[in-house]
Amino acid sequence: MRFLLQPLLTPPEVDGLRQALLDPAVAWHDGAATAGWHARTVKNNRQLDPASPLQQQLAADLEAALLAHPLLQAAALPLRLHTLRFSRCGPGEGYGRHVDNAFLAGGRADLSVTVFLSDPDAYSGGDLVLEHPWGDESIRLAAGEAIVYPSTLLHRVEPVVSGERLVAVGWFQSRVREADRRELLFELDTARRHLFQQEGKSEVFDLLSRCYANLLRLWGEG
Ligand code: NI
Repeated sequence: MRFLLQPLLTPPEVDGLRQALLDPAVAWHDGAATAGWHARTVKNNRQLDPASPLQQQLAADLEAALLAHPLLQAAALPLRLHTLRFSRCGPGEGYGRHVDNAFLAGGRADLSVTVFLSDPDAYSGGDLVLEHPWGDESIRLAAGEAIVYPSTLLHRVEPVVSGERLVAVGWFQSRVREADRRELLFELDTARRHLFQQEGKSEVFDLLSRCYANLLRLWGEG
């Protein structure tokens, strides 16, 4: 299951991020340095130095915004957001077909996120393409919006043709590793919230909440 965070960031927040990242004094490095041995052959972008003070500061703010998003909490059940990178692609740059590594230094990658920081009119090409069993899906979101998708999918970033594409990408370890269980919990949670809106803390709501909590106890990791 993939889902959109629309919006994740306000226009002033996106402007602030863009200004900080596109300051000419900021150094960008070859993104291939943080790719696995096979993804390295198709990764052609630039990344902010993960150890730089700017990265630490911007990543902390973005991490807080992601983890505060109610849809992300309900659908991803994040145990931790363990990696966040800022990436840019100019003309001719992109990231060919690959699958994200199962484990990164901070944990298992169950869900990937791309936060779009450039206005879609600021570049052509550069679509994120997810390869689902039912076909390819091109994703191109407004600045400040994000997509969260299963890290199990093959995906790519089409080469940028003109302009510049600025994004943040990150990885979550979910409390529930199995995607189908995560989806069941999300639907149950959504249903009980609708019920709560309709009839408050009724007897049925309490039963559904008990079911939800106990399934999470059964399937989740803490
Ligand atoms: Ni990837």
